[in-house]
Amino acid sequence: MNKSPKKILVLTSGGDAPGMNAAVRAVVRAGVYYGMEVYGSKLGLRGLIEKKIIKLETYSVSNIIQQGGTILKTCRSEEFYQREGRDKARAYLNELGIDALVVIGGDGSFKGTALLRDEGGPNVIGIPGTIDNDIIGTEYTIGFDTAVNTALEAIDRIRDTASSLNRNFMVEVMGKSSGFIAAEVGISGGAEIILIPEFPMTPEEIIRKLKAQREHHKLTSMIVAAEANKPGHTMELAKKISELSDLEFKVCILGHIQRGGSPTAYDRKIASLMGVKAVEALRDGLTNQMLAVQKGEIVLVDFPLTGNTTRYFNHQEFIRQNDEILCA
Ligand code: F6P
Repeated sequence: MNKSPKKILVLTSGGDAPGMNAAVRAVVRAGVYYGMEVYGSKLGLRGLIEKKIIKLETYSVSNIIQQGGTILKTCRSEEFYQREGRDKARAYLNELGIDALVVIGGDGSFKGTALLRDEGGPNVIGIPGTIDNDIIGTEYTIGFDTAVNTALEAIDRIRDTASSLNRNFMVEVMGKSSGFIAAEVGISGGAEIILIPEFPMTPEEIIRKLKAQREHHKLTSMIVAAEANKPGHTMELAKKISELSDLEFKVCILGHIQRGGSPTAYDRKIASLMGVKAVEALRDGLTNQMLAVQKGEIVLVDFPLTGNTTRYFNHQEFIRQNDEILCA
């Protein structure tokens, strides 16, 4: 067990996600409540290297629980993954007397700060924040519910024009490596076909499924596709489908609107509870663990540091759901 910290620092790292501000707010308020000094790093891990650290008070996080994005800003810092960068960060944290970190971000950020800790840096507790919902060890990451509802609202709007003109639409949603957003949005948006990297389908297979649906007098079709690290790939897919068949698809790429917007109640709740629990874990001298949702409960688990730390959609479940939907 390590001693309780007197000065803690919170930072947001990687892709921003709605709800990060609610987590920052909870960390600051809980830290002040437990008698700690609370600091924040601007621009995530890069702020530790570039000495962009600010003192945070209770009022610093007033009126942000409902704001998307992150008041601390974020970035993807390659320099932090070099020993020299971490040495600079560790020296600066020591100079300020900061003895504990709360990192709100993805598995890459946890790996970097765990390295810093192993090299003599402060204790660190992670809060999983990414709209992709794809971090091993947790069923939920902050921002996912808001991103899904943002995409779903867009799909409902697209349905209006699709049904008015009897048009087919292909909607591309985010999800760097996994299909959680596409699966959730596709199922709740009533898509006829959902394309995710865990469960690839060829254009020919897509055409076969769509033609089978047309036998049931489906006049329009909605396909939801994960970007799967190839943003914009659906333009090419729609072109391919029109070359191979008489099926024409309009394409709508939702992109970064899924990263913004006011967090839903669920994201605000999970983020707030995780923020408080992160401070309490540091108070109890814990390190190298992250808050996680498992079977609906918020628990502490070891950082996902080894092997492939990306969580993938359980495609077996997906096949069952997908086929059920196609038969609907
Ligand atoms: O990781 C979250 C995410 O929004 C992914 O879904 C997406 O592929 C990626 O970030 C986009 O990264 P950037 O914001 O750097 O373009």
